[in-house]
Amino acid sequence: MAQRTFSIIKPDAVRKGYTGAILAEIDKAGFKIAAIRRQSISNEQAQGFYAVHKERPFFQDLCAFMSSGPLVLMVLEKDNAIADLRKLMGATNPANAEEGTIRKKFAGSIQENAIHGSDAEETAAFEIGYWFAGYELI
Ligand code: CMP
Repeated sequence: MAQRTFSIIKPDAVRKGYTGAILAEIDKAGFKIAAIRRQSISNEQAQGFYAVHKERPFFQDLCAFMSSGPLVLMVLEKDNAIADLRKLMGATNPANAEEGTIRKKFAGSIQENAIHGSDAEETAAFEIGYWFAGYELI
């Protein structure tokens, strides 16, 4: 059965007009978009989402960045979705991202790195449930 993962097109990429190009990469890689919503989030919502990182030195900056403008929240579906999306995204730091990956093409820095993708099944379940109600998942 197809697996679900959670993804965000981050505010840097939305601001630069890369939303359509990133969605095209996701589509070309064979993902089905099970749910999608463009919105702005509050600093508090960002803090809840990134709670696992709350002791990291970059936490406050990260939450300020994520609440700095509109972003695109998505649930993506395909076989092996979690690992395949992380491969398509490339390394967290775009300086280390492989040629052809979304972060290599569209990310500016380790923080403003264009896209988020869940790193494991439990994280995907938490992240999908944090942003989407069951009835929104088609
Ligand atoms: P993401 O995949 O959304 O998960 C956590 C985010 O924290 C990460 O992408 C980056 O945006 C950010 N991040 C991770 N490491 C660093 C770092 N060393 N400095 C600043 N931001 C970071």
